[in-house]
Amino acid sequence: MHVSRIPLARPSFTKEMEKAAVDAMWNERFVLGESVLKFEEEFAKYCTVDFAVSTSSGTAALMIALIALNIEHGDSVITTPASFVATANSVLHSGGVPKFADIDLETYNLDPERLEAAVEIGTRAVIPVHLYGFPAEVDSMKEVAGKKGIAVVEDACQAHGAFYKNRRVGSLGDVACFSFYPSKNMTVGGDGGMLVTNDKKIANKAAKLRDCGRQSKYVHDAIGYTARLNTVNAAIGRVQLKHLDAWNDKRRRNAETYDRLLSDVKGLHLPPAGDESTRPVYHLYVVRTSMRDGLKQWLESKEIECGVHYTLPIHLQPIYQEMFGFKEGAFPNTEELCRTCLSIPMCPDLAENEVRFVCDQIHEFFENW
Ligand SMILES: Cc1ncc(COP(=O)(O)O)c(C=O)c1O
Repeated sequence: MHVSRIPLARPSFTKEMEKAAVDAMWNERFVLGESVLKFEEEFAKYCTVDFAVSTSSGTAALMIALIALNIEHGDSVITTPASFVATANSVLHSGGVPKFADIDLETYNLDPERLEAAVEIGTRAVIPVHLYGFPAEVDSMKEVAGKKGIAVVEDACQAHGAFYKNRRVGSLGDVACFSFYPSKNMTVGGDGGMLVTNDKKIANKAAKLRDCGRQSKYVHDAIGYTARLNTVNAAIGRVQLKHLDAWNDKRRRNAETYDRLLSDVKGLHLPPAGDESTRPVYHLYVVRTSMRDGLKQWLESKEIECGVHYTLPIHLQPIYQEMFGFKEGAFPNTEELCRTCLSIPMCPDLAENEVRFVCDQIHEFFENW
């Protein structure tokens, strides 16, 4: 069977989105127009929370969430080193200090037991990341957080629409943050983010912080940021949100096919599949193998695009080594993930024959090794 080059992902942009964007530009204020307010309302409802505040990026949402929670200079915030660097950067942007706890290799997410061991005097919050779209074990982390009196900020930047124990990701902690960067499960046609919460005080503070700390037009009672979502992007986001559930269902169907066709490959670990109540959204479909580099080369020679998310864990990024002196071996599970992980094509419009072609090529690689 011949298929043409299979990309890792294909962002969706349609005439419906184009029309929404153009209408917004002609008819609304470019900044904080009606589409922004509507997108926030709709996104809050989607996440089953009371408030949503849009921002210019997921990083800005995380930083603002932490500032709104009163993280102060030197406070420590625990997160996973197995994430995009922005998770930890946002802690530094807020004035806090990122501390890491290792992951559970079965879920790729922060291990609640290691979180508990990492909490120290001065720890003020934990950021579980729903990595690759698989929900982190938030209930156990909330138990730890409750005992220690620390806040829980979900980094849901890769998990729009996922369910954890029948609850929407985004409704699980004190605050949750999403990214609409173009590779995500939904985008706004550029950079964008959203902070969601049931806490009115946090929502009001976040809305002020992302809008220059405004009390009124030229009166400012907080040191804020220019971190708003543009109206045109919100208009595109509203259309994308309508399609999100259907897109996630298609991702899950593709993941089921991968799971089924790859389950017998020796030496290949498949991602966690969830169950009836915990339903991942497969932002990425990430397999693990000690032969990662060879497999990647093989698949790319067959015109199958692959990715490595991420080549370096956060603690071994040059700037984190320079600032904090982290050494290799500090977080072995995370380092193992970075050595062995491979993202294979995953997006809603990946056709069944493309998924089968990828699986055939993976089988061939392992049979001939
Ligand atoms: C887990 C995670 N956290 C934070 C971010 C930051 O989001 P953004 O790129 O919108 O700033 C991203 C995405 O890029 C991410 O994947």
